[in-house]
Order: sequence, then C-alpha cells, then structure tokens
Amino acid sequence: MTMGAGSGAGEGSGADTGADGDPTALTDGVLDSGRLAGLSPADLATEFGTPFYVYDLDLIGRRVEALRAALPRGFRLAFAVKANPALAVVTHLRRCGVGADVASGGELETVLRAGFDSTAVAMTGPGKRDSELQAAVAAGIGFITVESPGELRRLDAIAAAAGKRQPILLRLSVSEDAHLETVRLIGGVEGKFGMPLQTLLETARIAAASKNVELLGIHAFGASNLRDADQLVDHVAQLVEVGRRMAAQTGTQLRLVDAGGGLGIPYSDAETPLDLERLGYGLQALRNRWDSDIELHDMEIVLEPGRFLVGPAGAYVARVVDVKGPDSAPVAILDGGINHVLRPALVQSEHRLAILATDGLRAMVRTTVAGPLCTGIDVFTTGTMLPRPRVGDLVAVLDTGAYGFTEAMPLFLSHPSAAEVAVKSGRAQLIRPRVAPAELLDRQINPDW
Ligand SMILES: Cc1ncc(COP(=O)(O)O)c(C=O)c1O
Repeated sequence: MTMGAGSGAGEGSGADTGADGDPTALTDGVLDSGRLAGLSPADLATEFGTPFYVYDLDLIGRRVEALRAALPRGFRLAFAVKANPALAVVTHLRRCGVGADVASGGELETVLRAGFDSTAVAMTGPGKRDSELQAAVAAGIGFITVESPGELRRLDAIAAAAGKRQPILLRLSVSEDAHLETVRLIGGVEGKFGMPLQTLLETARIAAASKNVELLGIHAFGASNLRDADQLVDHVAQLVEVGRRMAAQTGTQLRLVDAGGGLGIPYSDAETPLDLERLGYGLQALRNRWDSDIELHDMEIVLEPGRFLVGPAGAYVARVVDVKGPDSAPVAILDGGINHVLRPALVQSEHRLAILATDGLRAMVRTTVAGPLCTGIDVFTTGTMLPRPRVGDLVAVLDTGAYGFTEAMPLFLSHPSAAEVAVKSGRAQLIRPRVAPAELLDRQINPDW
C-alpha cells in the first residue's frame, strides 16, 4: 500500500508556512492584496476571458505540506478527486505525493491519466457499476471500499474472473445527523452509504472467507466540512474500535482504516479554520496508544481530504455586465452564476466575494451580486457591504477550489462554460478551455423525422 502521505517529494517545501515558521499554521488564500495567486486579475481576465476559475497550485502544495506535517506515523493522504477533478490539479497533487480517492470510473480514468501509481488509488462510493469495478480491479488499485453485501458479491465474482485478489475495506454507515456536523458512528443506519454494523460484520465474515478479496479493514466518512479537530479525532478513534471488533470477529488483522474526508475550511470571516496543531496532537495521542497495542501497532490510517487541500486555493472570477438599482443599494449582474458555482445555492452557504476594482477608492454600499440565470436562486449575495460595483468590474467568488467547477450546472441556460486556469510559480496556464454553446449544439442529434 503506497497511499503516499509520507513518501512524496511534496512541492510545497520551503514555502510560506505561517509567521512563526510552524508548518501547520496556514494563513494564506488565493486572493492576497488584490492579486490572485500572485497575478493581476485584470491580466488574467484579458488573457483568458471571463468567467474563469483560477487555482493556485503552490498554495495547494503548501496545504498538503501543512496537513502532512500535522499527521503522525502511519497516516496517509488520498486526495478526494470529486472535490476538483481537473487533470492538472490532480496531477499536481500526485506530484505532491498524496494518493487518490476516486468515486467513479471517470475519476479512475482521471487519476490514471494523471500518472498515479494504481496502488495509491482507492475507490469509494455507492452504486459502483460492474464496469467500474472491473476497471478498478484490472488497474490493480490499492483498495476498493465495499458499500453493501451485494456489491461484495459482484466484486468477488469480478475479481475471480480477473484472476486477482482485490484488497477491500468495508464501509460502515454513520448516522444521518453526521451531516449536521456531529460525528457519531451508530452503525445501525440503513441508508445510501455503507452498511449498518450488523450487516457489516456479516459481510466481513463472507469477505474474510473469500479467496478473491482481501479484507484489509474498515471505512467511514464522518461529516462534511468539520472544523472541529476534536470531532475529527473522535471519529478516527471510534472507527478504529469498530474496525478492531470486525477484525476480532473475522479472525483477520486490522491493517487499514479509512476515516474519509470532511476536513473543513472557513467560508466566512466569522469561521475559524481547522486547528491543525490540535488535530495533530489528538491523532498523535491515538497513535501512541495504538503503538503499544499489538493488534494495532502496524495499522495504517488513510484520510481522504478534498475540500481542505484545494478549496481555499481556488477562486471563480466573473465580470459585471450590468448594474442597476439605487446608488445606495446596487444590484450587480455577472456574466456567470450558479451555472458555474452552484455550491452557495445548493448548501445555502454564501461564499466570500471580492470586487476587484483597481480604479481608486469606492464607497462601500449594500450590494447584491447575482448571476445571469433566469432563476431567483442565482444570487451570490444580497445586501452585503462591498465597494460600489461598476460595469466591467471583476468579481471573485472565493474558496471555490473544491466543489466549484465540478459541482455546477453548466448546461443551464446555454451560456459558455467557465474556463479553468492554474497558476504555478507565477505562471498562469489554461488547463480547461471554455466550451461554447455551439460546441454542445454540434454534439446533438436533430433527427429529420
Ligand atoms: C468517501 C468520501 N471521501 C472523501 C470525501 C471528501 O470530502 P471532503 O472534501 O469534505 O474532505 C467525500 C466527500 O463527499 C467522500 O464521500
């Protein structure tokens, strides 16, 4: 298993790691002193047009390094590709030395194209098709997280047909209110993700007896966007204990525990970042306990962060095409909206916005910023104090490096898609061109009935 947290070259070395030199103290974001990833927003807009996403790869590298520095021995990182599947971003993360967590055949193809060693790849997620399992087994990926007894039966047959013994984890279901920011492993919940404890234990017995799969351990995703280090530590601790029970009941050794992602980031100035130092202390205390435990001494832990590694490193930039309403409460309409950044409307969580005006001081006014779509939910903010907008201004929607481009609805209203741009060592590069509506029309079939 080479899930890579400790092994890679890591491109963030020598980078700004906070004022006191503590590598776990991350302070920077993609927008700093009016510049995006160190570059002029106006220059980026001139070169690439609007709207576009911009990702600061150096910042992603620093975030990998900061998280890695906080983790004890035996902890590995696998980037959750769903957070940002842009090939250049995924390739950069591979160069940073992390593994990858994929949730579909398409994501598997992405990481293989990005040059990942297949043993550094995990596949997790509900509803894996036979063709996806076949591709994962054929590629020889590090492990597949099995979500149900039925999936185990299908995977077993697929591995047998391929003449391979596929390493697996079993996924434990967590309580529904996990998504309400409590991490509680109940294991009694039948739902979309994973299995309740009883089902998991029965499935583990079947897996342990099979020669086509190799039961390494257990997986559970606790909760999304957790910024409370203690809750994350608690989640890992509880999961390991369930894994220990599973191993004891099946006569196997608990070799791997995947605690999922969920490491959170602030989306507003009022929110505090995840305390990496505290996370590190908590996990180290667990490691110390496991180290003196013969059953757990050699166990590895995988974390699958997505949002934490890439979220703050990305911004969405659009241009103001219209301003209306009174001077004291203007409404700015952009050339892109929830067709490109759906997350604020989807989870009802506003992102920080910046009007990137370069023409001197502007009065601060209560401003509404909206996209061009014909729906009332296409609004980024209502009545927020911002410099008074003008037509032609650039607006940045921050913290959109995760679940931004990939979680949007680009076809709605047939606007062009957003371009994607990556910046590395001060150099900007187009990594995904904008798709024009005509290109999508060209792909359609209009029968001559
Ligand atoms: C199985 C699994 N792992 C990892 C992640 C990544 O989560 P995050 O981006 O919150 O770290 C997700 C997100 O849905 C997930 O479902």
